[in-house]
Amino acid sequence: MSKLPTAKYRLDYQAPDFLIDTVDLDIELDDHASTIRNVMRVRRNGQHQRPLVLDGENMQLQAVAINGETLTNDQFQQTDAELTITGLPDECELSIETLVDPANNTALEGLYKSGGAFCTQCEAEGFRRITYYLDRPDVLAVFTTTLHADKSKFPYLLANGNPVAQGDEAQGRHFVTWHDPHPKPCYLFAVVAGDFDLLEDTFTTMEGRHVDLQLFVDKGNLGRATFAMESLKASMKWDEERFGLAYDLDIYMVVAVNFFNMGAMENKGLNVFNAKYVLADSRTATDQDFLNIESVIGHEYFHNWTGNRITCRDWFQLSLKEGLTVFRDQEFSGDMSMRPVHRINDVRIMRTHQFAEDSSPMAHPIRPDKVIEMNNFYTVTVYNKGAEVIRMMHTLLGESGFQAGMKLYVERHDGQAVTCEDFISAMEDANQIDFTQFRRWYEQAGTPTVRIKESYDETTQQYRLHCTQHTPATPGQPEKQPFHIPMRVQFYTEQGDAMQLQCADLKDDVISLQKEEQTFVFSGATSKPVAGFFAGFSAPVRIDAGYTEGQLLNLLAYSDDPFIGWDSAQQIYLRAIKSAVSNDSPLQLSGDAIEALQHQLTQPDRDPALLALLLQIPSEEAVSGEYEQIPVEAIHSACQQLKVQLATELKTTLWQTWKAFKPSGEYQFNADDIARRMLANTCLSYLALHPDAEIEQTLIDHFKADNLTDELAALQAAVMADHQCAADFIDQFAERWQGEALVMDKWLAVQAAAPHANTLAQVKALTEHAAFSYDNPNRVYALLATFTHNLAQLHRADGEGYRLVTEVIRRLNESNPQVASRLLSSLLQWKRFDQQRQDLLKTELQALRKLPNLANDLFEKVEQSLAE
Ligand code: TRP
Ligand code: ZN
Repeated sequence: MSKLPTAKYRLDYQAPDFLIDTVDLDIELDDHASTIRNVMRVRRNGQHQRPLVLDGENMQLQAVAINGETLTNDQFQQTDAELTITGLPDECELSIETLVDPANNTALEGLYKSGGAFCTQCEAEGFRRITYYLDRPDVLAVFTTTLHADKSKFPYLLANGNPVAQGDEAQGRHFVTWHDPHPKPCYLFAVVAGDFDLLEDTFTTMEGRHVDLQLFVDKGNLGRATFAMESLKASMKWDEERFGLAYDLDIYMVVAVNFFNMGAMENKGLNVFNAKYVLADSRTATDQDFLNIESVIGHEYFHNWTGNRITCRDWFQLSLKEGLTVFRDQEFSGDMSMRPVHRINDVRIMRTHQFAEDSSPMAHPIRPDKVIEMNNFYTVTVYNKGAEVIRMMHTLLGESGFQAGMKLYVERHDGQAVTCEDFISAMEDANQIDFTQFRRWYEQAGTPTVRIKESYDETTQQYRLHCTQHTPATPGQPEKQPFHIPMRVQFYTEQGDAMQLQCADLKDDVISLQKEEQTFVFSGATSKPVAGFFAGFSAPVRIDAGYTEGQLLNLLAYSDDPFIGWDSAQQIYLRAIKSAVSNDSPLQLSGDAIEALQHQLTQPDRDPALLALLLQIPSEEAVSGEYEQIPVEAIHSACQQLKVQLATELKTTLWQTWKAFKPSGEYQFNADDIARRMLANTCLSYLALHPDAEIEQTLIDHFKADNLTDELAALQAAVMADHQCAADFIDQFAERWQGEALVMDKWLAVQAAAPHANTLAQVKALTEHAAFSYDNPNRVYALLATFTHNLAQLHRADGEGYRLVTEVIRRLNESNPQVASRLLSSLLQWKRFDQQRQDLLKTELQALRKLPNLANDLFEKVEQSLAE
């Protein structure tokens, strides 16, 4: 057996022994033998005589030379991960030639082929698969890149920065040279070569810079690129207006590729995107797809400042750029449209996925302390909880204080590779505030639970909140210190009017919880207030407010905070589910709750999008997060019953609402129409639970819609409800959309999400379908990652769900470990299931552990899980 992978620790950080000032790359592109000639100016960093140790993997070293003198084999040492050169002068020109095989690069890391095009993915540690280098983000160099390739097959040769030379070469080849004046870490390096359709536009920055915008898509897809281009221009304008940050090169390129492990990559001046976050028209993309494009285009663009100009010192600091950039893209989406809807969706991601990660064997702080495989830390914790931590700073400082902090951060650190600590310090210094305790959000993993008890004294008109916080232990962190938790509060009278209370600890409706146990006294309560806590989800915590159903219904009726209104309904659903589970009794939603929902649906002034969200019950996966020991069948059954009860008792109202909001006229993408579709389609998903002929006809008509949002909603409603038309819809949809891979992904996902006993067999069969392929991450995520989030079907008592997923993981361990690792996350929590499932899960994990050539990505998770 080969040696076990080793962990790196955050506190072991050492500055690099050498720096690289310039890199000149000359790349001869070829399917199986691309040659990379890399000429670097290397300089010793500090007084030491240590050798130069370069990272390098999966390539063939052809030659090494110092100042033009080729080294002999005894002048360097090579392992499968490093190249060590001793006796280097303090400054020199180091040349390295390597050979790589892009066409066989199925891991999609380094230089690979996506369809007919060459492209690269270097974050986090992919550059070391292109050439030997100091592959760490604190080594910043100026890159010049020359690409050579066949001119007819690869008319576009792209790299970072500006094009500075080009010309024809022998045998029908050509070359282009690019120069990027901004020193950058190698993870931001990119090249692309291919034949594309090109959408062009321009943007003039607030500084008067004229920027060419270029969007490269597969031939024939130009019509699907306009929305991404509009989103890009909107992002550029928004970053100027809200953050005062302008673009800094004369050209900004985005390339859409079909083979990509993640969403998109912010390479300097040359973003590479998963095609699903670029291509959209109303026939082949849903409303949600359009919104995702807006958000991902924004995200990658915003990285130009928060990530590229100011980058990370080491990968433990990943949340420095990702948490902040997610916060920025969330704010962008919210400023563009439907802020409350975006916020509630972000909260749903936190509660369903991040809270689950926090209670799993892989729990880690937003700034991890220990990493084996960096690719395992591009997580909802680093990204989304990281964004929540930035949002809490924003809540505590206000927009102007936060912007003052941002300004200082940029002034101090532009052009540098820095730490989360540097960001916090800038926020502190710009605001004369002390974030000592707040820093614990960076240090401690786990989700705190805040428990609130209220009391009211009529005679003194005082209202008290007794708050405790507790954070469960996570691996390696048995004891937790209290967090600084901003709690935004709202008070209403019994009649639903806003109520102003006085409290010395209250600052702009926010109180800071800083101790394990704390009491806040409010005065001026002329009657007992109805209190709403954590308005806007002001902190990433579990809230235990001990509300009665009456209080929840009051909040649902009164609160002007979209989160609080939505959450009240969620809590009502959860209670009904939990009580059915714990009493092993049929689910029963109270008449008051039904009436309240009915009332909401019939109010003329309600935002239809929020009504849609209100009607959507928590997923089985989200419900499972409420349990230390997960009762799979009981949760599944309670959730199904709740849907049926809502469908039955609200039937008339749902019909009326459907009729009032169902599509009329041509599809348009705007906030009002999106909201109408959300509500109509949510109603339809409930109505489909009735086997009526009238409803079947409605589904059949809706399935013929002129847009994918409605068409897919009809499919989804029929499949989820197992309506009699479901099988026909599945066939017709496949017939209609075969050949449109991104649309077929939704077809795969709908079937994998179905809460039916035959879903497993269906998913297995679909792995053989022409629309599926193990080679493309989008296909794997659509079918198999979706299945891993289908609680009751993944966790079948017979273990077949586990066997299916681990079989796929074994296969992808060889070809694409990054994707394999993403499928593994749902299997790590064996401890939270009954003995039978524990045994089944452990057997699968132990078998994975014994795999020869187990990838680091999988090793880290399996080991962590089995160590529990
Ligand atoms: N930095 C990218 C983003 O935030 C993330 C990313 C894209 C990535 N591709 C990757 C991370 C591959 C790891 C591996 O949007
Ligand atoms: Zn990012």
